Order: sequence, then C-alpha cells, then structure tokens
Amino acid sequence: MRLPLVALVCAALFSLACSKKEEGGTGSTAAKVTPEAEEVFTQRCSTCHGTDGKGSGPAAANLNPKPRDYTDSAWQGSVTDDALRTTIVKGGAAVGKSPLMPPNPDLESKPAVVDGLVAKIRSFKK
Ligand code: HEC
Repeated sequence: MRLPLVALVCAALFSLACSKKEEGGTGSTAAKVTPEAEEVFTQRCSTCHGTDGKGSGPAAANLNPKPRDYTDSAWQGSVTDDALRTTIVKGGAAVGKSPLMPPNPDLESKPAVVDGLVAKIRSFKK
C-alpha cells in the first residue's frame, strides 16, 4: 500500500513547483493590456519588437543589437516592471541599452498605458 504516499508526495511537489512559478514575477503588477496599450504596441513597438514579441519586426532587420526575444522566460524573470517602464518612457540610452530603443516621452503622463505595455511584454512569456 505505498501508492497513496507516492501520490501525496507527487501532489506536494507539484503544488510547490506551481507556487514557485507564481513568485517569479519580480514584483509584477496585475495590470491589464488595455486597448490603448495594445494599439500603441501595434503602431509603435511591433515594427521592431514584432507582433510576436520576438524582436522580428520589419524595422529590426538592420538593428544591432536586436530587440530582445520577449518569450525568453529567463530574461522575464530577471527584469523588473520598473526597469521595463523606465526603458519604455526614457528609451534605451537612458538605461545603458541601445539608443535605437526610442524614448516615448508622451507616455510619461500616461502611466496606465505604460503599465499596459509592461503587461503586454509580460504576456509574451512562454
Ligand atoms: C526602432 C526600433 C524600436 C522600436 C520602435 C521600439 N523598440 Fe524597444 N527596443 C529596441 C531595441 C533595439 C532594444 C534592445 C536594446 C538593447 O538590448 O540594448 C529594445 C529594448 C526594449 C526594452 C528593454 C528590454 C530589455 O532588454 O530590458 C523594452 C522594455 C522595450 N524595448 C519596449 C518597447 C516598447 C514598449 C516599444 C513601443 C512603445 C518599443 N520598445 C519600441 C528597438 C525598438
């Protein structure tokens, strides 16, 4: 009669793995991808970052470095929402990244849109 014990251990390990995954959000907010954020992403960001978030947009072909692959879960776990917000509003140059990542100063007064863009970037995580 060892089966119940094995099942119990499995269940415990499984729930442990699950709760750990939830924690990995490095302070992520519960922000939603608002329709406005979706529109901004399509119009301004996807040209470089791609509609699939992999950095494969048409304007990215000649960029060096290329925009990051947003589906990379290791990177997703390593970057904070605040770092994403700063990069979006102030641009790559402001955070020691490529100046080819343009700033979006008009979004400074629209934190909900910026949060929506962060949520959009998070949504690409595999
Ligand atoms: C002209 C091309 C271009 C456009 C348009 C663009 N980006 Fe980028 N973006 C880049 C590049 C190139 C990088 C990589 C910079 C680096 O790694 O040094 C980048 C990096 C980023 C990063 C930082 C990722 C990291 O590695 O931490 C964020 C966040 C980001 N972009 C969001 C956006 C959002 C949101 C928009 C639209 C509002 C946008 N980008 C529009 C080219 C672009």
